[in-house]
Amino acid sequence: MKALVTGASSGIGRDMAIYLSRIGYEVILVARDKIKLNQVLSKLSTKGEILIADLRIKKDVDKVIKKSLDEKIDVLINNAGFGLYGSFYESDLDREIEMINVNVIAVHRLTKEVYKMMKNLNGGYILNVASSAGLMPGGPLLSTYYATKSYVRSLTLGLYEENRRNSSNVHLSILCPGPINTNFNEVAGTRFNLKSLSSDFVAEYAINKMFKNKLVIVPGFMVKCGLFFQRCLNVKMLLRIIYNIQVKKGSKN
Ligand SMILES: NC(=O)c1ccc[n+]([C@@H]2O[C@H](COP(=O)([O-])OP(=O)(O)OC[C@H]3O[C@@H](n4cnc5c(N)ncnc54)[C@H](OP(=O)(O)O)[C@@H]3O)[C@@H](O)[C@H]2O)c1
Repeated sequence: MKALVTGASSGIGRDMAIYLSRIGYEVILVARDKIKLNQVLSKLSTKGEILIADLRIKKDVDKVIKKSLDEKIDVLINNAGFGLYGSFYESDLDREIEMINVNVIAVHRLTKEVYKMMKNLNGGYILNVASSAGLMPGGPLLSTYYATKSYVRSLTLGLYEENRRNSSNVHLSILCPGPINTNFNEVAGTRFNLKSLSSDFVAEYAINKMFKNKLVIVPGFMVKCGLFFQRCLNVKMLLRIIYNIQVKKGSKN
């Protein structure tokens, strides 16, 4: 049994790879940082390998797709992603396009090609890592990031229903966590003002739910409560509340 995890050099991806290995999967670890990937590789209890790929770049995404198809992977975890803090007016367009390439385009292309293979083989699991951000109407001060995660949520849910009607043995899930203690903040230029979960807890929780065919996976009681109560608010009110939470994330003191 083989799994491929993108963004396996750090955070949730690293911990999902380690957990998948612990339960018997050979794991292909994908990211840019070779040193960190080798550190993760040394922690696996099964066979594994690293694949250096920059998912901003099409030919690198093609390389990951080819590897997935050649190896006939049983599990695909589209986890690599990052955020960028700041107002839409001021934020750097090139960096936003890079984010869209990693968080959206790479996820879209991998999901499509691996899904087609899994459908033909009639089996497999695809877990797309979105965020609780993807369940919100929008995310002022992290607008592009929230939009990318909404895309991942919407794409995966649409595909889920098409797949269900085909009575296939392919299983699709999305992971929608709130704050998790990883490198995310450092990369995004932000900090959390809510209590964060540990990435090893989220990784294990997500993988176990995925294998139970859970469609929308939300770890943590507080985030579940928040998502439940947000349904009672109108969109404009909710956006104001999200802005007030996000604005505090900008101060690093
Ligand atoms: N932390 C949170 O609070 C939180 C909450 C909800 C959702 N998420 C989502 O969880 C996922 C994992 O994030 P994390 O929190 O674990 O953050 P992290 O520790 O910063 O890990 C991000 C991973 O993505 C990889 N990555 C980033 N850019 C890449 C690129 N261009 N090409 C290939 N790989 C790339 C990084 O590897 P390299 O740098 O080695 O390439 C790293 O392995 C992301 O999709 C994030 O949006 C995080």
